[in-house]
Amino acid sequence: MWQGRLVIASLLLVSLLAGLSMCTIGNARQDQLEVYSWWTGPGEEEGLNAMAEAFENANPGVRFVNAAVSGGAGSNAKAILASRLLANDPPDSYQRHAGLELLDDVRSGKVTDVTALYDEQKWRAVFPQGLLEDLTIDGKIYAVPVNIHRANLIWYSPKMLKDLGLAGPPKSWSDFLAQAELIKRAGKMPIAVGPGWTQKHLMETVLLGELGADKYELLFAGRLNWTSVEVTAALAVFDKVLKVSDVDSASGDWQPQLDRVVQGSAVYAVMGDWTSNYLENTKKLGWRTGYQVAASPGSDGVYDFLSDSFTLPTGARRPDLSRKWLVECGSAEGQNLFNPLKGSIPARTDADANIYTGYLAWALQQWRDPKTRIVGSLAHGVVANNAYSAEIDSALGLFIQNRDVARFAQTVQAKYRETQ
Ligand code: GAL
Repeated sequence: MWQGRLVIASLLLVSLLAGLSMCTIGNARQDQLEVYSWWTGPGEEEGLNAMAEAFENANPGVRFVNAAVSGGAGSNAKAILASRLLANDPPDSYQRHAGLELLDDVRSGKVTDVTALYDEQKWRAVFPQGLLEDLTIDGKIYAVPVNIHRANLIWYSPKMLKDLGLAGPPKSWSDFLAQAELIKRAGKMPIAVGPGWTQKHLMETVLLGELGADKYELLFAGRLNWTSVEVTAALAVFDKVLKVSDVDSASGDWQPQLDRVVQGSAVYAVMGDWTSNYLENTKKLGWRTGYQVAASPGSDGVYDFLSDSFTLPTGARRPDLSRKWLVECGSAEGQNLFNPLKGSIPARTDADANIYTGYLAWALQQWRDPKTRIVGSLAHGVVANNAYSAEIDSALGLFIQNRDVARFAQTVQAKYRETQ
């Protein structure tokens, strides 16, 4: 009899302990914020790490789980995120670009409307109107921007240009092609490129430089055909630029692409301004002394922008913590902490300009100059929805192999119609 009672008592004790430990596990899982991005490695992660530390300090007992997946421009992260969202296993917040990249998530109900947070934080008064429009779908706002990056930039070493006898960076793509002849004769690679997304980034800047801002916008608004005379002429220039690049041997991501410029085997690279953090903090090069940067050929006065933003996913485990994270992303303190380390400028219009020095001071001045023309980036989510963007990626992959301008233009034009 007593043995039976002992067995029951032991069973009760075991299940009580199991219950207790489940609770502990449950709480441990709950007291954490999982933030998903593609910011890993040098030149990418410094700003996020600073924000993570600030988040933990402001929320004692809550662990910041950095769920970043490496690969520039989200080249790997976006695919893995898609499968997590499909499986209803979202992180507590994930990175998206402002613009059409957000559309699918909104339409498929993967992200929550954060308009009320905007009202509570009075954010509508501190973010630029155009950016707010890029974050708004059907009258509701779906993400919080932490920064502004510029895509249309060409990076180089001032010493290299001097050694080659070049007076300055190319002002147009035909100027670049003329310089490329001289550079090749000197045994150097005129322009370095990296993986597929960097080739798309380069194409975007060639289109911008050759077409000008108005026609660039018309093209992505579907009001100028890819098969038109001017766009095919611009694509032919892109083809010529690729011919004087290392596209056939390019390996690694954007950092190795820039390394070739730093080491001096290549002269130029087109890349966004996350490069400034990499060159200054990882490579220890000074702006204008160790490295220099200019608007990509033909795009002076234009700011081809993108904005890293964070979302509140539907089904996030701790939406209260997600909201706290979003508040940090949108706050002046958060943006002041993040941007000088990320190599970007604040999305907020009221942020303190004095903490931006060197290249970033120049970027901020250009962004705030009312004469600057702002357009949105293709490679970084602003002007193309995900389906159209993916079709451009496939067509571009084929174009890199066959270099058939007419076929590329026809394919992209047809895919535009299918994906709207
Ligand atoms: C962009 C992103 C930047 C930077 C870059 C390189 O898409 O907006 O913040 O991380 O990719 O990975």
